[in-house]
This record gives sequence, C-alpha cells and structure tokens, in this order.
Amino acid sequence: MPIYKQALNSEIFDYISKASSALQLESYVIGGFVRDFLLQRNSGAKDIDIVTVGSGIALAKKVANLLPHKPKVQVFKTYGTAMLRFKEVEIEFVGARKESYAKESRNPQVKEGTLQDDQNRRDFTINAMALSLNQKDYGVLLDPFNGASDLKNGIIKTPLDPNITYSDDPLRMMRAIRFATQLNFKIEQTSLNAISNNAERLDIITRERIVDELHKILLSDKPSIGFLLLEKTNLLIRILPELTNLKGVEEEKGQRHKDNFYHTLQVVDNIAVHTDNLWLRWTALLHDIGKAPTKKFDKNLGWTFHAHEFVGSKMVYKLFKRLKMPLNEKMKYVQKLVLLSSRPVILAEEVTDSAIRRLIFDAGEDIDDLMTHCEADITTQNSKKLKQYLNNFRMVREKIADVEARDSIRNFQPPITGEIIMKTFNLKPGREIGILKESIKEAILEGEIKNDFEEAYQFMLEKADKLGFKSS
Ligand code: CTP
Repeated sequence: MPIYKQALNSEIFDYISKASSALQLESYVIGGFVRDFLLQRNSGAKDIDIVTVGSGIALAKKVANLLPHKPKVQVFKTYGTAMLRFKEVEIEFVGARKESYAKESRNPQVKEGTLQDDQNRRDFTINAMALSLNQKDYGVLLDPFNGASDLKNGIIKTPLDPNITYSDDPLRMMRAIRFATQLNFKIEQTSLNAISNNAERLDIITRERIVDELHKILLSDKPSIGFLLLEKTNLLIRILPELTNLKGVEEEKGQRHKDNFYHTLQVVDNIAVHTDNLWLRWTALLHDIGKAPTKKFDKNLGWTFHAHEFVGSKMVYKLFKRLKMPLNEKMKYVQKLVLLSSRPVILAEEVTDSAIRRLIFDAGEDIDDLMTHCEADITTQNSKKLKQYLNNFRMVREKIADVEARDSIRNFQPPITGEIIMKTFNLKPGREIGILKESIKEAILEGEIKNDFEEAYQFMLEKADKLGFKSS
C-alpha cells in the first residue's frame, strides 16, 4: 500500500494524530485534501476533512485542547460534525458513518459506521481516498475503489451504484459535472446515465448550493465542458431554461440563423481566457438570452432578434431572482452589459465622436469590460473576418481612449448641479431643473459644448433664456 507521509507535513496532522491516540480513535484525512495532493493541484487547501471512527466532535475538542492557541470549536450537532480553524485552514471533523438519506431532503439519518462504510457513502472514488493518521500505519493510503487510478485516468465515478449515490444527495450530480469541468475529467457512462435519470431530484437542492456549483463551473478554464454536460443530462433545463431555449437552428426560405446556445458557450470560453471576473463571465453566458423570445423571420430582413438586448437585460433580473442570486450592483452590472452588448458592434461600422461619448456615458466604469465582452462575442470560423472584426474593435477602443482623454465622460458628473440651477434662476425643486440638466448633458454628449463648468454655464444661461427662465 502506498504511503504518503509527505502529504502530512503540516503540524496540524501531528496534533490530530496525538488527540486520536489519546482518545483511542482511528482517524484519517479524507476527500479533497487527498485528491488534490495526489493531483499535485494547489487547491489552496482551504479545508481539510478528517474522519474518525467514533465521535468527530470529541476529537475536534481534544485537538483544540492540545493546540497552543486553543481555537474555538464550532459544533454542528444535527450533523454530528465540528470545525476548528488552524492558520486560515478550516479543519472539519466527522465521525465515520453509514448514511441513509430521506427521500425528500438532503438531511441524512446518520448511523455510526466503519471507515469503509464512510468511504462507501462518499460522492466519487477520487474523493473517497483516505490517508491514515494512526501511529500504526501513518500516511498509508486507503483507497478501496481505486480512486488513485481514476485520478490518473481522469475519470469521475461513484463508489456505489451511481443511482444510489446521486439519489442520496442530488447535489452530487452538479458536483460530478463541476469536477469534470475543473479537472477536465470524463464522467463514466453509467454515472452520466444515472445523472440523466435522476435529473428531477435536483429540485430538492437549495438554489444557493446549485448556484455555488454553477459559479465554480463558470470560473473554470473551459466552462463549456460543464454547460454541455448540464445540457446533455437534462439538468440545465431545470436551472437555466433561458439557455436551453437558445438551442437549435431554424431555416426559413433558405435562410438559417446560428445556434445561439453553442455560440454562447463559445463566447463564455473566449471570455474565460481574458478575465476571472465572475460577473463578466455571467454576462457572456446571458448576453443572448433575449434572442429566444424575440426571434422572428422577416421576409425582407431574414431572421431578426429585435431588441433582444433590452429583453435579455430584463430577463437577467428574473433569472437572478429565481436562483436567489444577489439583486445588487452585481446584477445591475450584468444587466447593463447585456443591454449594451451590441452597441460597440454598431460603432465598429460607423463611428462618430458623439456615439462614442454616449457609449462611454452609458457604460461608465465598465466600458473596458464591455469591450472585452464584445471581442469574446466574435465566434466566426473565418479567420479573415475574425481579424477584421478584432481590428474594428481595436479602433473603437482607440477612439474611446481618445474621446475619454478629451472629455472625461467615464465618471460623468454633471458640471452644473441642480443647486446651481435653482440658485441661478431662483427656482424651487421641479421639472425645469431636470429639463435644464438633461439638455446640458445632451449638449456635452453631442459635442456641442465641452464637459467643463464655463461652457456648461454659458449654455445653461442661453437655454434658460429660450425656455423663458429669469436669472435672479
Ligand atoms: N462529499 C460527498 N458528497 C457531497 C459533498 C462532499 O460525498 N455532496 C464528500 C467528498 O468526499 C468530498 C468531501 O466530502 O471530498 C469534502 O467535500 P467538499 O469540501 O465540499 O469538497 P472537496 O472535495 O474538498 O472539493 P472542493 O473544495 O473543490 O469543493
């Protein structure tokens, strides 16, 4: 049996080993820590899972007691688990168990069991490997399901019949796909079938947990791996039907549109090369969702998706709400970028200073992200066209930098405030102020006046005169 003492060089393992001996318990480090060690993957070892044949809570308390800084132990009584922190790392303790899950919930009915019982009940062979922390065989790998060889061969497989494993805890269907995406592994065929067969069981999982897995998929190097698997196993339609609705190509009078589902996945992969910004990746994923409800065939124009950006940005709100995602500035950012997602494309064709100014005004701080999205949105296979489109966007970017240097629109603050207007014309708060402010903004964006106080003030006086306001 292979021995991996070098995996256990953190002093925390000595403490756990000592505490276990003192309590006469057998303990093991199990799960992600072992997997990532064998993969030589630096997962940052944010958490370490310890399983003990006996009480995990008692072991955690004993370890805390031996540690010089006597950390607090957090006990989760219902689950029979405990957690303590050691140098930023969360150490989770659990008693080995045989579990059987109630049909309608994720909450297991727990019975004590052996290490092997516990390993049986874990999600994947690659996550069921344990390293002994016991003096008699310290560092020995206990790998009853050949997880190490699945790791080598890049296979996601469940220890038991996958129907049992996934039905026990349907979140594992998402986890299987997430690991396949992160590690670029294949999900074994019987497992894949079991996911399809159990897809509807996903409905008992909280949306927060599902979204957590979606985020991990989206943040992988090649998110399309995950979304293709989610689609193939019928999970995607339960989570993001807006995306599955983009599938398919229709033909009318010899005209076809592109398959917007596969296009979208390509855009997400493209953007993943350029940014780790989760919300920009969400933007790429959702930028075309308005195309399904707006699709029409027009005799003269062919396939149209009129106002799909606007419709799509409205759909973003509903989607975030349904998935219990934040409805704060992150959502607004995605909405805004979806809404603006075609604007730079239009500019690439014919560009005027005022159109650029308006775009900078509307995108504000996020103008660079918008351009990054637009570049990722190019999925043509024709290398000549690709070059040409990229070149167009490069010109738009230059123009943006140029206009921005002159006019500072990005963080636009009206040079004339409502207070100044009220004071100048002795006005009380009311519509007139809004009208004047808006006309000043328009004049700046149109390039009639510069974005500075003097010109704006002069403009305001003239405009007010036309409107019949009297200065005081
Ligand atoms: N586990 C499980 N079923 C789940 C969640 C977790 O069997 N639904 C088991 C697996 O053995 C897993 C361990 O609990 O390795 C720890 O789970 P977790 O911390 O969520 O995941 P890691 O495997 O550590 O991986 P990551 O940190 O990438 O999520």
